[in-house]
Amino acid sequence: MIIAMDGPAGCGKSTIAKLLSQRTGFLYLNSGSLYRAISYAALGRSIGIEDTKGLIDCARSLSLSYGADGAILLDGARLNEELRSAPVDAVVAQVSAVSEIRAIVDDVLRTTAKGRDVVVEGRDMTTVVFPDADVKFYIDASVEERAKRRFEQRSTSLSYEAILDNIRMRDEIDRNKAIGALKIADDVLYLDTSDLTIEQVYEIVYSKILHVRE
Ligand code: DC
Repeated sequence: MIIAMDGPAGCGKSTIAKLLSQRTGFLYLNSGSLYRAISYAALGRSIGIEDTKGLIDCARSLSLSYGADGAILLDGARLNEELRSAPVDAVVAQVSAVSEIRAIVDDVLRTTAKGRDVVVEGRDMTTVVFPDADVKFYIDASVEERAKRRFEQRSTSLSYEAILDNIRMRDEIDRNKAIGALKIADDVLYLDTSDLTIEQVYEIVYSKILHVRE
């Protein structure tokens, strides 16, 4: 069974997808982490962000997979915090805009998901990569609420205003990308989580999955 989730940065889809994975045993696949792993490898090889051919060659040369716990394995090595570093943040949007790199990522996702129970999240999971997924969700929240949640996590020293600006900028890039843009598919369950707790969102998502499984 494939559960696909899309939504903008900071909407809480990773939290919900991870919870689902922990409580159901479905494998958790974070597609953004694959773009981050390719960015990380390109930075390590000093490939400039404008060198599209260099980026594609780099991506093609990598062995990318998911570990049993959903961690990214790059040439067999587990990657974790490295994927969330400031240098990776600075280049990943541009790396994810390269069509050949999107094809590589889509292929890793489809190969990994084949014949398994997975919960996969990103920007184009419900539209491009798994349009026929068994259950599809679009998780949303207002930009102010997403910035507030990030700010309250205290995972960064940035002010609320700086986080808000950053999320607005990311939304702009995500929604206007030539390929793989963030869109709301007609057949998703759309959830605005602005006024909901994590457990409330989880309950709605889980009931929908149970309903489809029956
Ligand atoms: O969700 P995230 O912040 O880890 O995503 C990292 C980058 O990859 C971000 O620029 C959006 C992009 N991305 C994408 O283009 N398509 C996806 N399916 C997932 C992420």
